[in-house]
Amino acid sequence: MTRILHLSDIHFGAVDERLVDPIIALAHDLRPDATVVSGDLTQRARPDQFVAARDFLDRLPGAVLAVPGNHDMPLWNLPLRLAAPLARYRRFIGTTEPHVNLPGAVIQGIDSANPLVWKAGRMRDASGERLNAVFADAPVGAMRVAVMHHAPVPAADGTPADLADPTRALAMLSRAGTDLVLSGHTHMPHAAFAETAAGILFLQVGTAISTRLKTGANDFALIELGPNSVAHQAWVAPRGGAFALSATTRFVKTGRGWEIVSAP
Ligand SMILES: [Fe+2]
Repeated sequence: MTRILHLSDIHFGAVDERLVDPIIALAHDLRPDATVVSGDLTQRARPDQFVAARDFLDRLPGAVLAVPGNHDMPLWNLPLRLAAPLARYRRFIGTTEPHVNLPGAVIQGIDSANPLVWKAGRMRDASGERLNAVFADAPVGAMRVAVMHHAPVPAADGTPADLADPTRALAMLSRAGTDLVLSGHTHMPHAAFAETAAGILFLQVGTAISTRLKTGANDFALIELGPNSVAHQAWVAPRGGAFALSATTRFVKTGRGWEIVSAP
C-alpha cells in the first residue's frame, strides 16, 4: 500500500494560522510515503509568502512534491508575469514539474499555470511529452499519478474545467497512461470521472489551510494506492475547527476503467 497525502491551495498570505501546526502534526500521524501540494502555494507570489510556503513544505512528511498554481505568478506586475512568471516559484520552491518514484507509484508534476490569462490553466505539449517519458519508464504495476493545479474535468458544482482545451489535455493524459490526476484550484473537494478518459480517476481537494473557503470548510485527502485500487480518505475541518476523517471512498480499476466500489 502506497500512501499519498494530497493538500492544495495553501495560499500563504491568506492562511488560517490556527490550522498550520495541527495539519503538520496530523500529516505526520498519517505516515504518507509522499505529500503532494497541487498549487497555489501563495496568495500573491510575494517573496515573503514563498518563504512561508517553503518553511511549510519543509515540515511535511515523506517525499514532498509541489506544482505551481495561478496564484504563484504575479497578478498585477504584468511585466514580471509575462517575462518570468515563475521565477520566484523556482527560486524558493524548485522545479515546476518534479517527479517522485515510490514503491507502487510514479508521481509527475505538471505546470498548468498560464501567465497570459493568469487564472485559467493550460497543458503544454512539453508537459505531455515529459509525462509520456516518465510514465513509460514506470515499473509494471506502478500507479501513474499526475499532479496539476487545474483539473481537466468539471468542479464539484459542475463548473466547467478552468483549463484551455480540456479535451486535448485529457487526450495527452490518457496517451501517457495516466491512472490518477490530483488537482486543486476550485477550493471544492471532488472525485470524478471523465467520460473521454475512462482510464483516469480525477481527485480534487479544496484548500487545506487558507481562509479562502468555498465550502465552509478546509479539507485534504489521504490516498492509499493498491494494485489497481484507491482508498480515498477525505479529511475536513469546518471553519475554525479540527480536522476529522469525513468519508472514505474506494475505487477499483478494471478493464473498463475506474469504478466506485464503496462510497460514504
Ligand atoms: Fe487557490
